Amino acid sequence: MNVVLIGAGNVASYLGPVLKKKGHTIVQVFSRSRKSGKTLASLLNCEHTTLAGKILTTADIYIVALRDEVIASFLDSLPFTPKLIVHTSGSTGMDVFPEKMKDHGIIYPVQSFSKSRKKYPDKIPICMQASNDKSQKKIKKFSKTISPVVVEMNSSDRFHVHLAAVFANNFANYLFLQAEKILVSKKLPFDLLKPLILETAMKVQEFAPAEMQTGPAKRGDATIINRHLTMLKNHPDCKHIYKLISGCIEKDLGPRL
Ligand SMILES: NC(=O)c1ccc[n+]([C@@H]2O[C@H](COP(=O)([O-])OP(=O)(O)OC[C@H]3O[C@@H](n4cnc5c(N)ncnc54)[C@H](OP(=O)(O)O)[C@@H]3O)[C@@H](O)[C@H]2O)c1
Repeated sequence: MNVVLIGAGNVASYLGPVLKKKGHTIVQVFSRSRKSGKTLASLLNCEHTTLAGKILTTADIYIVALRDEVIASFLDSLPFTPKLIVHTSGSTGMDVFPEKMKDHGIIYPVQSFSKSRKKYPDKIPICMQASNDKSQKKIKKFSKTISPVVVEMNSSDRFHVHLAAVFANNFANYLFLQAEKILVSKKLPFDLLKPLILETAMKVQEFAPAEMQTGPAKRGDATIINRHLTMLKNHPDCKHIYKLISGCIEKDLGPRL
């Protein structure tokens, strides 16, 4: 397909090279800032524009990979009706597409993308939705060229996948940051924890998370929990998180007395 990428951020920078590798042609990148658009366009060997009025009108598919807050205003400002248009958000509905854009849909890749990261797993699940049968066929076929795992679902299910992903990735990563701070405060290297972090992620590939829970809260070890809380006395946010999560672990998974 001839593809126009709308946006040159984390997701567009992932999708562009993948689509090109799979035989699609990226004909243009649109981005509000010249720098990010030019960088991605030169990587994909295509043209770029910062003006909505200069977006090519004849592409087969338009992929809107913009920050969620600006998707609606961008779509409203688009001066033509694309043949087929999708966005990539986990938490923006189908109702964001203006009435005139009949053939539309969503391809939400369930992964955390960062521009600095160059390699991702091949099997990134794609949550897909389409406005009608015609779009469904096209978007599904297109999505299958990105990933073998394409799951059709409604917006409510997709919002829940996104919510779960916030827990599994965003919160987990924030906890890695707190762990790093604790080690750095004692001039200890974060590298000490990397094999543990990897093992935590590997274990849930095979076992249910509830089965893999370990630690003082799971054991109901009040002595260690209280010592940890004392150690966190100068870090109120961390102490709050520790207390809250330990309480939840004890309640859900702790020892049955
Ligand atoms: N990142 C992820 O891990 C991930 C995963 C799955 C789905 N998604 C979804 O994919 C979409 C894109 O996410 P992303 O992480 O790629 O976003 P991003 O990197 O933060 O930004 C994407 C694009 O939005 C543009 N943009 C930001 N603010 C704007 C504004 N006020 N007006 C016009 N353009 C603006 C950026 O322009 P500049 O280049 O000029 O800053 C950039 O080209 C979102 O809907 C997100 O929910 C993200």
